[in-house]
Amino acid sequence: MLKYAFQLNGRPVSVESWDPAQPLLYVLRNALGQHGPKFGCGLGQCGACTVMLDGQATRSCITTVKAAAGKAVTTLEGLGTPEKPDVVQAAFIAEQAAQCGYCTNGMIMTAKALLAKTPHPTVEQAKQALAGNLCRCGTHTRILRAVVRAGQGRA
Ligand code: FES
Ligand code: FES
Repeated sequence: MLKYAFQLNGRPVSVESWDPAQPLLYVLRNALGQHGPKFGCGLGQCGACTVMLDGQATRSCITTVKAAAGKAVTTLEGLGTPEKPDVVQAAFIAEQAAQCGYCTNGMIMTAKALLAKTPHPTVEQAKQALAGNLCRCGTHTRILRAVVRAGQGRA
């Protein structure tokens, strides 16, 4: 059994796995109790599984646990709490930017990456950043409003 150590939401963790190619998503959900990232397509195409890997929005379904070793992983759980949500989480709540919520993790994590580079995005910039994140419920308008709102600090 191989061991992989990385930082998870600011604390050191270590997991065992027989398979270095095991998706990081499985390890996060099944071994580390991080249920923010979701399994959608499993092919890197929908964005539901997005986490931050060393500050970069990364699809954890196509990232191996081996690739995460020694790095800093941030999940939705690492952004804020129900009592004290992060600015993007608060903006999604304020705009009620979810129906089923399955895509919400990926939308928020991708929005965080956008805001790190573009602190005050326009609707068009938010659209481009989130173009690879799928929402089957059609919540796009509210999601875009939430991203712009977060950038304006109106959460
Ligand atoms: S589940 Fe990872 S991109 Fe769809
Ligand atoms: S809110 Fe249901 S998939 Fe986006």
